[in-house]
Amino acid sequence: MVDVLLGLQWGDEGKGKIVDYLAVNYDIIARFQGGPNAGHTLYVDGVKIVLHTIPSGVFQGHCLNLIGNGVVIDPVTLHQELNKIIPLQPDVMSRLFVSNRANIIIPTHRALDAASEAAKGNDKIGSTLKGIGPAYMDKTGRNGLRAGDLISKDFEEKYNKLKQKHKQLLQQYDYDYNADLEKWEASFYKAVEFMRSMHIINAEYWIDNHLKAGKRVLAEGAQGSMLDIDFGTYPFVTSSNTIAAGACSGLGIAPSSIGKVYGISKAYCTRVGSGPFPSELNDATGENLRKAGNEFGATTGRPRRCGWIDLVALKYAVMLSGVSSIIMTKADVLDGFDTISAAVAYMVDGVETLELPYDICTATIVPVYKKFNGWPKPVNDCKDFDGLPQEFKDYCKFVEAYIGTKIEYISNGTGRNQIIQID
Ligand code: GDP
Ligand code: IMO
Ligand code: MG
Repeated sequence: MVDVLLGLQWGDEGKGKIVDYLAVNYDIIARFQGGPNAGHTLYVDGVKIVLHTIPSGVFQGHCLNLIGNGVVIDPVTLHQELNKIIPLQPDVMSRLFVSNRANIIIPTHRALDAASEAAKGNDKIGSTLKGIGPAYMDKTGRNGLRAGDLISKDFEEKYNKLKQKHKQLLQQYDYDYNADLEKWEASFYKAVEFMRSMHIINAEYWIDNHLKAGKRVLAEGAQGSMLDIDFGTYPFVTSSNTIAAGACSGLGIAPSSIGKVYGISKAYCTRVGSGPFPSELNDATGENLRKAGNEFGATTGRPRRCGWIDLVALKYAVMLSGVSSIIMTKADVLDGFDTISAAVAYMVDGVETLELPYDICTATIVPVYKKFNGWPKPVNDCKDFDGLPQEFKDYCKFVEAYIGTKIEYISNGTGRNQIIQID
């Protein structure tokens, strides 16, 4: 059986911490989409680790880890990540597998990402500039290089062909990348050499064999449902399917093999990059959330935009992925707020709706809020459900009733064991 874990908001919900915690119950952790635009933070023995491409199961010694075909891999980032992890987990290379069908991000993908964003001016997506969009464009345009190509004889030829195509495209932009390219290419070639020593496999057969042997797999999503290429706040989205369906195409598994779907949501909401965010708070309360939640991007360091939880968007995300269990993270961040709010409907151009509008980027949306009392004692100190303040439990009950799905865990701190299971 394959369980899926994904973000229900605009990313950074705390997926890394939760995967690391749940990984004790699984044999394999598999990333199925996205690339080094992701930044998944874990604290292992008090040490902060940020993973970009490597699944968040690497710090549970029994787990095998797979980078699936749906992921786009930048060999340079992967190499850097592994250089940090190998001293901490010396056997990591023997537990890490890469699908030969995963597409590769090459240096000129990064240049194209930067050039395209610069050309958009005020309309920029706020991309992480990791080359994600251009790499997925080459994948669907059927021009991409794949991990399997790294070990083929004509790799150099394929690489140069793609680079030349990119150089032609780059001519239409007023963007000077040549100085960086030489440096990027040097580390790219080194990283490609390193990747050749990795287990690059036919991952769909590998995973199928493990499933037939009764092994348990957790598919780890990146980004969040509102950044999904089809259902997110298009065009302010990423370039992959972040919803549960992405796990099937991104790993080569059948829909019938999906078991539980965990959806992760913060107790409030954040977004990094441009695009609509109806419940955003551009005031002192938003600033307080950013400070209390230390809301700065794990990949780019950018300040995250903050606001109240958006139940209209959350319910939509739960519907799209058939989420069977909610994990609410960063509950402790709301400690100390006198009142908190949740968006329960939108006024769209003056008309109330419970649905996410198709034209969310251009419509005028004013959220309708329900207010809740804050709680007198911190959630941060609680060890079990009974110890949680009643006001917080009331908040959770409302969220559950609104979206029609049970909250199974509450995360109340950054540490691996700062989590409460709700019975
Ligand atoms: P991901 O991309 O979904 O893995 O999330 P990120 O790692 O980008 O961002 C989540 C941030 O919140 C990280 O800094 C985590 O250490 C932190 N975090 C996760 N869970 C909690 C929690 O329950 N409470 C607090 N205060 N921080 C948390
Ligand atoms: P994790 O896995 C938050 C956002 C970017 C930008 C948009 C497109 O850590 O939750 P891209 O680089 O994909 O072209 O950027 O998507 N974005 C994320 N925001 N968390 C992420 O990943 C993100 N990955 C991309 O900020 O708005
Ligand atoms: Mg993140």
